[in-house]
Amino acid sequence: MKKVVLAYSGGLDTSCIVRWLKERGYEVICFVADLGQGENFEAIEKRALAAGASKVYIRDLQEEFIKDFIIPALKANAVYEGKYLLATALGRPLIAKYLVQIAHKEKAPAVAHGCTGKGNDQVRLEVAVGILDPRLEILAPVREWEFKSRDEEIEYALKYNIPIDVTKKKPYSIDRNIWGISIEAGVLENLEQEPPEDAYLITKSPTQSASYPRYMEVTFTRGVPVKIDGKVFKIKNLINYLNEAGGQFGVGRSDMVENRLVGIKSREIYEAPAATILYTAHKELEALVLDRELAHFKEIISLKYAELVYYGLWFSALKDALDGFVNKTQKFVSGTIKLRLSKGTCVAVGRKSNHSLYKKELSTYGKEDKFDQKLAEGFIKLWGMPYKR
Ligand code: ARG
Repeated sequence: MKKVVLAYSGGLDTSCIVRWLKERGYEVICFVADLGQGENFEAIEKRALAAGASKVYIRDLQEEFIKDFIIPALKANAVYEGKYLLATALGRPLIAKYLVQIAHKEKAPAVAHGCTGKGNDQVRLEVAVGILDPRLEILAPVREWEFKSRDEEIEYALKYNIPIDVTKKKPYSIDRNIWGISIEAGVLENLEQEPPEDAYLITKSPTQSASYPRYMEVTFTRGVPVKIDGKVFKIKNLINYLNEAGGQFGVGRSDMVENRLVGIKSREIYEAPAATILYTAHKELEALVLDRELAHFKEIISLKYAELVYYGLWFSALKDALDGFVNKTQKFVSGTIKLRLSKGTCVAVGRKSNHSLYKKELSTYGKEDKFDQKLAEGFIKLWGMPYKR
C-alpha cells in the first residue's frame, strides 16, 4: 500500500480525508502539529486512529515555532495589509517542514492536507513542501472530492463511524496557535455587520473590559522579548502570559477585508493579544535606537517580509536574505518599553534603552539646550538649493 502523511487537525475535514484516502488505496499516517492551539491531543490521536489512520505522530513544535518563525517576524515587524500579524501564515511552513520530515522517515512518497482550493494555506503548504522535497506527491482531497457541504461530510462520517463532534454546530472556521487566532465564515461573511461577540475566543470586548488601565513593561534584548515587568520569562510563557493579560483588556482584535493570494477578497477577524503587545513595544524601541535611514528602510523591508510570509514564500532565498538584514538591525534593539493596556488599546507611554539615540540636550526647549541653532541656516540653504529655479 502506498503511504501518505496527512497534516491532521482532528476536525471534520481531515477526519473524512483519512477514510477517503484509505478508500483510494492509501495507508494514511497522520501528523498533528502542536503550535499552541490548546487542543486535547489524546482525543485527536484516538479520533485519527478510529478514522482509519495506521499511525499518528503528535509533535509539540511550539518552541521551534516561536524561535524560528514568530521571533523573526516580530523582529521584522511583519504585518500584512496593516492589520494581520500572520499567526496562521507563519505556522504553515513549519507544518510543511515536518510533513516532509515524517514522509522521509516513513518512506512515504506522498503528503496530504485538508485545505480548500480557495485559500492561502494550500499555497503555503504546497509551495513549502515543493521547495523542501520536489519529489513528494501532494494530495489535496478537499479540492477534488464529491462532498458539496458540511452536511454531506457529516453524513459520510456517520456512515463510516468516523468519530466527530456533530452536536456542536460550528458557526465559524477557526485556525488557532500560540501567536493568534484567525476566524472566518458564517455571519462574518456579511461585511456590513459587526462581528458578534461569540466569534472571539480569547479577548474580552473592549467595551466590556475593565474601566481602569493596566501598565506593563516589556524588556527586549537584541529584538527578542525577555522580561515582563522586570521578571524574566521563558519565551513561550511570556507569549502565553501576554495573550492572557492583553485578552483581559480586549487588546489584539482586528476585523479586516484582506486580499488573498488566490485573488479573492475575504473578511476575517483576528485575535492576537501577545503579538499586538510585542509589536507595539518592539516598534517603539526601534524608534528610539535605530537611526532615521535604517528605520525608514526597515519599514520597506517589513512590508516585503509580510508579503513573503503571506504568500507562502518562507523558504525562499529572498526571505532568507531579508532575515540577514533584519538580524543586523537588531544589534541595538535592547531596552524597556512601558505600555498602557486599556479598552482594546495598547500604547507605548514610556521607553528607555542604553542604546538610545535620543539626546535631550539637542531636543530640549529648556535651558540645557546645546543645539547650535546657527547651523540650521546653512543646512536649510543647502538642503533647499536643488529645488530653486
Ligand atoms: N486569512 C488568514 C491567512 O491567510 C487565515 C486563514 C485561515 N483562516 C481560518 N479561519 N481557518 O493566513
